[in-house]
Amino acid sequence: MYLTPEEEKMEAGEYGAAVQKSMEIIIALGEIYSAERLVNITSAQIAGVSYKTIGDAGLEFLEDMSKDARVIVPSTLNPAGVDLDRRDLGFSKEFTERQLKIIEAYRKMDITTTCTCTPYLVGNVPVKGDHVAWSESSAVAYVNSVIGAKTNREGGPGALSAAICGKTAEYGFHLDENRKANLIVEVEDEIKGADYGAIGYLVGKAVGDGVPYFKFKNRSSIDDLKSLGAALASSGAVALYHVEHLTPEYKEALPGLDISDLEQISISRADINETREKLSTSSKKPDLICLGCPHSSIEEIKQIAEKLAGKLLKNQLWVCTSISVKAAADRMGYTEIIEKAGGKLVCDTCMVVAPIEELGFEVIGVDSAKAANYVPSMCRLDVVFDDLENLLKSSILERKS
Ligand code: F3S
Repeated sequence: MYLTPEEEKMEAGEYGAAVQKSMEIIIALGEIYSAERLVNITSAQIAGVSYKTIGDAGLEFLEDMSKDARVIVPSTLNPAGVDLDRRDLGFSKEFTERQLKIIEAYRKMDITTTCTCTPYLVGNVPVKGDHVAWSESSAVAYVNSVIGAKTNREGGPGALSAAICGKTAEYGFHLDENRKANLIVEVEDEIKGADYGAIGYLVGKAVGDGVPYFKFKNRSSIDDLKSLGAALASSGAVALYHVEHLTPEYKEALPGLDISDLEQISISRADINETREKLSTSSKKPDLICLGCPHSSIEEIKQIAEKLAGKLLKNQLWVCTSISVKAAADRMGYTEIIEKAGGKLVCDTCMVVAPIEELGFEVIGVDSAKAANYVPSMCRLDVVFDDLENLLKSSILERKS
């Protein structure tokens, strides 16, 4: 692989041990994937944050790195295992203490500790064509597809190394020839809400790590696209998709390809409904409704607050989001409405990477196909997958006087 004189110095250790170790990781990845050179990145999003997923070995690695590593591009963290500020969710003291040590190690490396899988809602926003190194799979799908920046699905150490060096190896989705579609998906019916997750789940299974090109009957919102991408990236390994007449690279996704050679599938209302049903593992009422996978936007929190105004919930509700979006929700009065109904705005974490299996819940209600896919395996709990409206409707106890 070609290295510039500056990159050779980084590899030789002239900028310290952390830069040297990080360059070695980037070069090793580049060699595995036959990259010809490195490219400069403008931002990083780093996974490997929850103590539940990285354990003591991860904590030790990060504490060691934090002695002299500092990131040189804007960088944010993926969700952690707890809300960093509130202590009323029931997580153990030991888990919380170790989680806070992980966050402290990242903070020392100058990584912004807004622990969220929607960094694009809170200031980590590249522009079209930028090379970036992001690792949370739903955020990777979003930044490639909706923003048009370029990243592979980095692992946590790969993204951290890229943030420390400001560079990544040029292979995979950094190259335009790999950003073309290889499956055309025609959706026959108008869709909304949890339909997006169901379609993402269905297509992710069909396309694996390919690039689907969607033709929808109706226009999708940013929140719809974040649900779609999260599901595509969880049942498959999709890092990039295109939506006709909507996403920034859709015009470049098909030219030069022989369309008749491309696989094409149609998705009917019956397919969507069947997938929605399959994603639930229980017919019992959820004892915790957990929304915000990927982390809720202010628009989504507004919708939840509107549905809960003046109501009481009979089971628990967590709305997962980032601290930045919660600050806006506090100011708008949405947090107060949700908490008066008995719900909680939970920051920095989520139903998958938090140890919710230790809290005594049996059935989790989710409107996210990604959460429905992961909660049974990662938390060993049952899920009910449905639209936000239906989940909340079945949980509302009475109208307050
Ligand atoms: Fe985000 Fe957790 Fe879902 S990291 S995408 S809320 S599983």
